[in-house]
Amino acid sequence: MSASAVPKLKGQPLTVEAVTSAHSIAVGFSKNKEGMFSFSANLSLISKIEKYFGLNLVDELGFFSATGKAGEIFEIPVSAQDSQCDRIFLVGVGSHSLLDVRLAGAALGRKLRGKENSLYSLVAQTGTEILAHGVSLILGNYQWTKKTSTPKLKAPDYFLSNSHPEQLVRAQVVAHAVLRARDMIHTPANIKTPAWMAQQAKSFARNTDLIVSVLSGKALSEFGGLQAVGNSSPNPGPRFIQVSYAPRGSKNWPHVVLVGKGITFDTGGISLKRPYDTMIGMKSDMSGAAAILSVVSAMPLTKPKVKVTALLMCAENALSGTAQRPSDVITHYGGTTVEVINTDAEGRLVLADGLAYANLNLDPDYLVDIATLTGAATLGLGRQYGAMYTRNDVLAKKLHDIGETSGDRVWHMPLIDDYSIALESSVADFNHTADKPKFSAGSVTAALFLEKFVGNRNWVHLDIAGPARSEADAGENPKGGTGFGVRLLIDWISSIK
Ligand code: BES
Ligand code: MN
Ligand code: ZN
Repeated sequence: MSASAVPKLKGQPLTVEAVTSAHSIAVGFSKNKEGMFSFSANLSLISKIEKYFGLNLVDELGFFSATGKAGEIFEIPVSAQDSQCDRIFLVGVGSHSLLDVRLAGAALGRKLRGKENSLYSLVAQTGTEILAHGVSLILGNYQWTKKTSTPKLKAPDYFLSNSHPEQLVRAQVVAHAVLRARDMIHTPANIKTPAWMAQQAKSFARNTDLIVSVLSGKALSEFGGLQAVGNSSPNPGPRFIQVSYAPRGSKNWPHVVLVGKGITFDTGGISLKRPYDTMIGMKSDMSGAAAILSVVSAMPLTKPKVKVTALLMCAENALSGTAQRPSDVITHYGGTTVEVINTDAEGRLVLADGLAYANLNLDPDYLVDIATLTGAATLGLGRQYGAMYTRNDVLAKKLHDIGETSGDRVWHMPLIDDYSIALESSVADFNHTADKPKFSAGSVTAALFLEKFVGNRNWVHLDIAGPARSEADAGENPKGGTGFGVRLLIDWISSIK
């Protein structure tokens, strides 16, 4: 049920003939301190384009009082005999940083929403820029709708320089993976049950060497957290979905296990969310699971020498007669007992089973979980950074740096051991939330809770409650689910030797 059309990236020669054969052309520009403009393409090509249409681009920028801010766009109608090209977009690229190149791509993509025309973009030159810009052209174009009045969604073709063909192919793969995650996140919870998530996994795996297995009902008897949360819903109950990329010959490759929070809707359960409008965005509480499903589904295309297993912990957190109660004691996978304090802290309960399962059965070299876990993470970092927790500082630095280049930025947060006592329970091995009021630091204590289930593994926890969802069209993000984490994890996995 994909509601979006996917734009295509095509390599073209950097000639005036190729550039002017597109329906529109994007020229990047910057403005320096002295107010001088420069363009992100070589001068002889720019002057050929100017000659072809009989205009002067610097004059145009002066006319518009352009500032050069990344993503600023001016649209110039053009015409030339025998040419279908009717627009030049002058797009600001700020200081031409990678972030600027992405913002320019997203702004152009947004401009072409719903159009099926072609655009030749002259913003990116190096391979890294072509990858970043190509991805953002596609991400900015994203739309999701169930309006019956909207005709079948259309998507443009983007032409970029053919100087780095392998980066164009990669950009297409990465962007497609992000769009898949967005489509799942935008799908409302009356459609998106845990069983629907399992169907998605199976449909992505069809005709690939991915292996999918799904546990439900009695087969989940050892998964105390997934059951406690998911049995609140008759809609048809929780699912443990395992998707593996382990092609022939992969036996000795490093193994990455990804665990994703897949709450298809979070009412809070008996500890009902208040004020109630905080519930409206909660169809996106499966963003972690959507991200890792998209990541593992991209592996047959990016072909890293890494085994990847994604564990999607899918359940609906409903308010019902079969919902768990505050004060219940549950037994997680592996036997740890936990006293439930606030049923709205359901994410860590389903993740605990997944982390323990991975630690006890899958022998991961890296164990990474990703979850829309706490409002506290959003308070701390807002919507542009994910909160990253790990004891491995080298890995943290690496993920941080890959975040900056991929666009999914993460910040290394501290696992503050002083707060561990917040998780002591008088009746079970642990409390599941810090019920003692003096603790605050809700994102930190949630991370400390998860750490109880990871054994001695190389573990990273990504709390993406902030960046998983955007309240408005902003930068590369559409209003709604963003697909945060997909680019970061695909690029990180590709970097593992
Ligand atoms: N899904 C929410 C976290 C969340 C909040 C995600 C806002 C996106 C936007 C999570 O299940 C939750 O309710 N967390 C509670 C934990 C608390 C009860 C300890 C929270 O953050 O308030
Ligand atoms: Mn919750
Ligand atoms: Zn939740």
